[in-house]
Amino acid sequence: MQWLENKVIFITGAGEGIGKTLVSRFIEEGVVGIVAFDLIEDRLTALRDTYGDRVATVCGDVRNLDDNRKAVDLAISTYGRLDVFVGNAGVRDGRKRLEDMGEHELTTGFDDVFGINVKGYMIGTAAAREELAKNKGCVVLTLSTSSFYVGSGPIYTASKHAALGLMRALAHELAPDIRVNGVAPSGTPTSFADAESLLEPGADRTPARSGGPHTNILERQTEPEDHAAAYVLLASNQSAVMTGAVINTDAGRGITLASQR
Ligand SMILES: NC(=O)c1ccc[n+]([C@@H]2O[C@H](COP(=O)([O-])OP(=O)(O)OC[C@H]3O[C@@H](n4cnc5c(N)ncnc54)[C@H](O)[C@@H]3O)[C@@H](O)[C@H]2O)c1
Repeated sequence: MQWLENKVIFITGAGEGIGKTLVSRFIEEGVVGIVAFDLIEDRLTALRDTYGDRVATVCGDVRNLDDNRKAVDLAISTYGRLDVFVGNAGVRDGRKRLEDMGEHELTTGFDDVFGINVKGYMIGTAAAREELAKNKGCVVLTLSTSSFYVGSGPIYTASKHAALGLMRALAHELAPDIRVNGVAPSGTPTSFADAESLLEPGADRTPARSGGPHTNILERQTEPEDHAAAYVLLASNQSAVMTGAVINTDAGRGITLASQR
């Protein structure tokens, strides 16, 4: 059985990492079409080359309301409906400590991370709301172990805590027409980048390979594919009585972080 038959999904940050893996999995699960949104056109071209008509793309910035509206309009003009919004695009904070932040990090750096990780989710949902409501649709937001525990820098941690609060507030406000839930992965090897404004000049931009077996109690390397089933469940009618909920796909990492100093 395919769980996403007849669904049309708009997903941000679809060009790489967890988002790119979700596009592939959603297609396996029978979607009619996907509107894939990303900042980097080459990544979107690769998706169109791979999936043809099943994927329509928008190159834009999640912080821009018009770009988000363009994606919703494209879902309607191409596939005739919109059922699911997946807010997923996100950036890191370079694990920068407060004591190491100057004025630039405290202003521009903070605004960039919050703009992408929090505002992007909110205005994506705002743009999609009317169309989702027509189909008793749903929203799935990518959260993180950093939505619950510390471990990254304060800006990223605060942004992911805020995204958790946003998910709950939207679940409350948009019921009963639209369900809103989250998936909270732990460290996963992707191209996950720091906000440009928080990078030191000349910094090594190679993403660290995270989520290794030593980081979690199931002692396994966490890969993007490991998170996909949670999104499929939350995007499907199988989760019809779930809203305001989070599925932690962290191989048990969270329960150990709670007790660490
Ligand atoms: N990789 C991890 O360790 C990890 C762990 C927990 C949560 N997450 C969350 O998963 C989500 C996806 O991260 P990932 O690891 O797949 O990262 P990734 O960098 O591999 O993919 C993110 C995609 O988002 C796009 N993007 C970035 N800024 C954008 C913007 N302003 N507008 C439009 N697109 C933009 C990038 O171009 C990229 O294609 C994020 O919300 C992140 O916080 C990641």
